[in-house]
Amino acid sequence: MPSLNDIRSTFLEFFRRNDHRVVDSSPLVPRNDPTLMFANSGMVQFKNCFTGVETRDYKRATTAQKCVRAGGKHNDLDNVGYTARHHTFFEMLGNFSFGDYFKDDAIRFSWELLTRDFGINKDKLCVTVYHTDDEAAAIWKKVAGLPDHRIIRIPTDDNFWRMGPTGPCGPCTEIFYDHGDHIPGGPPGSPDEDGDRFIEIWNNVFMQNEQFADGTLRPLDMQSIDTGMGLERIGALLQGKHDNYDTDLMRSLIEASAHATSSDPDGPGKTHHRVIADHLRSTSFLIADGVMPSNEGRGYVLRRIMRRAMRHAHMLGAVDPVMHRLVPALVRQMGGAYPELARGQATIEETLRLEETRFKQTLDRGLRLLDDELGSLPDGADLPGAAAFKLYDTYGFPLDLTQDAMRERGRAVDVAGFDAAMAEQKAKARASWAGTGEAADSRVWFELAEAHGATEFLGYDTETAEGQVLAVVSGGVLAENASTGTAVQVVLNQTPFYAESGGQVGDQGLLVTPSGTMRVTDVKKAQGLFLHMGEVTAGVIAPGQGAQLTVDHARRTAILTMSHSAAA
Ligand code: ALA
Repeated sequence: MPSLNDIRSTFLEFFRRNDHRVVDSSPLVPRNDPTLMFANSGMVQFKNCFTGVETRDYKRATTAQKCVRAGGKHNDLDNVGYTARHHTFFEMLGNFSFGDYFKDDAIRFSWELLTRDFGINKDKLCVTVYHTDDEAAAIWKKVAGLPDHRIIRIPTDDNFWRMGPTGPCGPCTEIFYDHGDHIPGGPPGSPDEDGDRFIEIWNNVFMQNEQFADGTLRPLDMQSIDTGMGLERIGALLQGKHDNYDTDLMRSLIEASAHATSSDPDGPGKTHHRVIADHLRSTSFLIADGVMPSNEGRGYVLRRIMRRAMRHAHMLGAVDPVMHRLVPALVRQMGGAYPELARGQATIEETLRLEETRFKQTLDRGLRLLDDELGSLPDGADLPGAAAFKLYDTYGFPLDLTQDAMRERGRAVDVAGFDAAMAEQKAKARASWAGTGEAADSRVWFELAEAHGATEFLGYDTETAEGQVLAVVSGGVLAENASTGTAVQVVLNQTPFYAESGGQVGDQGLLVTPSGTMRVTDVKKAQGLFLHMGEVTAGVIAPGQGAQLTVDHARRTAILTMSHSAAA
């Protein structure tokens, strides 16, 4: 039986043999897309190669991409542990052509790999194509000899793949495996397609259009290929399992969890082990990629996943922190394919241990409060929003952790009530806020921080990244835009620029949007925001724009060298 590690290698090797460059997974925090929280598909790192904005020294690539879907548009967090195929972290295997081969070779490659190298019975496979894509249907017939009824035409967006509201996109063809008529469910496009009988295993996207924010769809100059196959799914299939959590890799993590908590991996705590195994992967990989637990943005997604896992460990009766003890099992399984995991092992363990130690102090009290609340509620009633808010505010329970705990008891949380309690607390803070008179304490920064949260810093290991302009401030007030010669302070959702703090000098560099350029001469911090200060040197800069940010490398290096020699 091939292991998940074998299957990943077979996939990459197949495409290497077919002249593809094997490219490393990009980090989970995308540098080239300011609107995306985490990489959620293999094409993210190649986004600009499809549009022609970026060219590389290869036209064919293959990757095993780390993906996290736990925040933003694709969010699988709530289902993890309770279903056979949801994960917060998963690996997407993919092959890519940038203006090189198109439909014909893509279909031929996928058929050959599945039926020859992976040895899947071709009678078990069927495919979908976009309803107008006669070309793809004809290729499937020619390459795979599939009869018409196993080439299903789908008229919906299910077969037109988009990465988001803008960007490269195109019609796609999906390959399904039929688990047999003893499993309930119908073929794709039928009313009972959501059953478990037909499982999608591979999506091949024919990248030929670009979607713009104004709704227009334009043909791209090049015709390209983007494909994605979830390793956990194909692994389950090739290992004869119906549940991704029964594959060798996930199973070894589940067993590590059972061992660490002295409990039965398949006993009453089964769901807890599944959640822990999944969350161990997403938290460890996020920390390895530089995300740290915090109360905002990516760091808060990480903290939510960590605390959720910790509650499940607690439910298994764990008295001492558990998660960090499972990291060696993960590194054994995945450290070969992802060396950053082995390199970051000490940091991952320490971060998990600290967070769990801290959270333990309030977890017990919070769970007791939850039980008390439940005891005083009528049968089956939702948990009131005020109680969920108290758990959040006083005990550090993220809302989804409380929802997860209630789910086990067959109950829900009054989310509207929770939101109202949160809004009320913010209103009180706003009313009682009084600046100190310092520039960094000006109301404009307070309001921006309240509306958008702190700026995310990406610069520990990069000097270039894209960010989204959230506000342009000129003369102490918000501006609709700023043109050449205007002195401004620009706030973005994320940045690679260091801000001045505690003896650290702010970075200098360039901020370039589609319509203008700004020379950044200093960066200061106010209310958690990074204020990029300087002058617009060409064109116009406006909120809502994407911006390419480039730190002045020579200056940063000189300053770091100076401070190191001063400290030495
Ligand atoms: N980018 C495509 C997907 O995520 C392959 O399904």
